[in-house]
Amino acid sequence: DPAASFVDTLPKAELHVHLEGTLEPEDMFAFAARNDVDLPWASPDELRAAYSYTGLDRFLELYYRGCTVLRRRADFHELTAAYLRRAAAQGVRRAEMFVSPQSFLDAGVPVADQLGGVLDAIAEARTDTGIDGALLVIAQRHRSEAEALELLEVLAPHRESLLGVGLGGAERGNPPSRFARFFADARRRGYRLTCHAGEEGPPEYVREALDCGVERIDHGYTAAGDPALVARLRDEGVPLTMCPLSNLRLRVTDDLSTYPIAALHDAGVVVTVNSDDPPYFGGYVADNYRALGLPHPTLAALARNGFTASFADDATVAAGR
Ligand code: HPA
Ligand code: ZN
Repeated sequence: DPAASFVDTLPKAELHVHLEGTLEPEDMFAFAARNDVDLPWASPDELRAAYSYTGLDRFLELYYRGCTVLRRRADFHELTAAYLRRAAAQGVRRAEMFVSPQSFLDAGVPVADQLGGVLDAIAEARTDTGIDGALLVIAQRHRSEAEALELLEVLAPHRESLLGVGLGGAERGNPPSRFARFFADARRRGYRLTCHAGEEGPPEYVREALDCGVERIDHGYTAAGDPALVARLRDEGVPLTMCPLSNLRLRVTDDLSTYPIAALHDAGVVVTVNSDDPPYFGGYVADNYRALGLPHPTLAALARNGFTASFADDATVAAGR
């Protein structure tokens, strides 16, 4: 398949991937066994059979259950190393990855172990494959803003090792405006800002995220149906990190043949292609490019957008383009 090799050799930046969401079924079972954690599935294949969701909430239930197997610094290290190996093999040159420390903190895993394991793997991968990795921390929006502000305090000793912060989790009923002080405080501390918005939530949530000073919108799918908002995203140059296979599996969209990424691109919005939670949604980033069924020049333009939209320094961006 010539399209396969075209996408694999295209230099790509991945800007929307949750490290916990890169946990392959076999690895989840291996971590569970060595950490003595019970899982509700009898085997990796039984887990794969459960990868069927009616929406974001049902996915998150399964995803948070999977997170319970990550207990030690070595787990975060191995998880990240495995993702970065697979990403590099798919032509990813720059990876800006999310981790969500709050549920691990609740489970008693120190934040230094979580971040330390991830950051060691990023440094090793840079040497091994040249992939340029960076880490953003996500606060869970079903929790209170006070907890999100507390998270910033917990992260303070690691500030210089982190690229940015974002907001994730159950979107409906948890608008970005509820986290305005979180974003303001994070900006004051020097973090780059992203926010999941417009995945299941209305275009208004995307507007609120922009009003909070967010520099990149994760998903932004529902913005496509709001011409005034599309114009604002274009005019303000705020990129969208779109995730086609995630949107398909979570029933945000029911048909990728009408996926709005090409229309948004034509409208002048900086749109990018990403995997979100690859095993859970049936594909890594190259699979997401292929699933779009767009002509090669369009795919190449979307890949260049990944570097434009990245928070990397100019030298890295130039190398990618
Ligand atoms: N949306 C919100 N939160 C998430 C997602 C998602 O797609 N994946 C992991 N956390
Ligand atoms: Zn996401």
